[in-house]
Amino acid sequence: MKKPILVTGGAGYIGSQNCKELAMRGFHPITFDNLSTGNESSIKWGPFFEGDLKDRDRLSWVLKKTKPRAVMHFAANALVSESMKDPRKYYENNVIGTLNLLNAMLENDIRYLIFSSSCATYGHPKFSPMCENHPQDPISPYGKSKYMIEQILKDYKKAYNFKYVSLRYFNAAGADLDTEIGENREKESHLIPLAIDTALGINTELNVYGTDFNTKDGTAIRDYIHVQDLAVAHTQSLNYLFDQNHSLTFNLGSETGFSVLEVINEIQSITNTKITMNFLPRREGDPEMLFATSKKAKEHLLWEPKFSDLRTILTSAIKWHKKKKVL
Ligand SMILES: NC(=O)c1ccc[n+]([C@@H]2O[C@H](COP(=O)([O-])OP(=O)(O)OC[C@H]3O[C@@H](n4cnc5c(N)ncnc54)[C@H](O)[C@@H]3O)[C@@H](O)[C@H]2O)c1
Repeated sequence: MKKPILVTGGAGYIGSQNCKELAMRGFHPITFDNLSTGNESSIKWGPFFEGDLKDRDRLSWVLKKTKPRAVMHFAANALVSESMKDPRKYYENNVIGTLNLLNAMLENDIRYLIFSSSCATYGHPKFSPMCENHPQDPISPYGKSKYMIEQILKDYKKAYNFKYVSLRYFNAAGADLDTEIGENREKESHLIPLAIDTALGINTELNVYGTDFNTKDGTAIRDYIHVQDLAVAHTQSLNYLFDQNHSLTFNLGSETGFSVLEVINEIQSITNTKITMNFLPRREGDPEMLFATSKKAKEHLLWEPKFSDLRTILTSAIKWHKKKKVL
């Protein structure tokens, strides 16, 4: 029988790609999502239970009914700049929501979790590339909410025989290589989808935040990891938990940093267009450079990113956005 896995946030960008990967690897993905930023149309590989992490009774009911062997936990609010303006939303949804989930899991004797953490738990880089031992000093309520959850997980592990793999992703990017799913938020704020929508004429101009960072061209540097590579790392983490029964934390990045202007130039070159840019001051909570070493994940999970070169990331995303435009 296929092992049932509860996927919170399975209607979202990364969660839906993970449902596809889980189904392809012989698991049974069950989505739990409140559709606040996700789409029902992205749930294609298993059943859907609509619900909110803040509703503990609903969570408990779904866990009792579906009896998952483990939970992959993607559901969260995930925008750094929004979290600076509305920290309460982030602590309530991300921290209290996760506590509800963990407690409902314990009540139902489910002790394996894969957690979506973030490079935002590190704050300003003290050195690059960042390894898992880089000091954690988050500068946004979003990053702090993920950091708090990591601390809670450590304590739950010690006290309740709870096991987890915490995955600190850098910037998830690209779309499903079969163009079945991809980034599809009602209110978009990520660079790549916004730049593509400008290249495709859906938006008239692209805001670029910060041109005075201490980088080669003054714009911020990020490490982009293909969403399909992320999904593979999750199922490998799940197998690691089942086989080793041991908790660990990993970075997931491509180990290469690209500036905002480099990404925009590459999109212009692939689409043969000229993107109109609107240069604005830095946004609060944005570090100048974030890129990872993923050596630990490569060693322990035997994981190797295959699709995270900038060309593959951008061509897959452009294909998806063209498809979305005509849908
Ligand atoms: N996108 C990135 O680059 C990135 C980087 C690092 C970490 N992460 C983390 O990965 C996870 C997924 O991110 P994403 O980019 O796919 O975001 P997303 O917004 O596309 O997906 C989040 C999903 O969670 C659901 N959700 C939110 N709050 C909920 C609640 N209270 N109850 C039930 N469902 C709820 C949303 O409806 C949505 O479907 C998040 O935890 C995010 O913090 C993302």
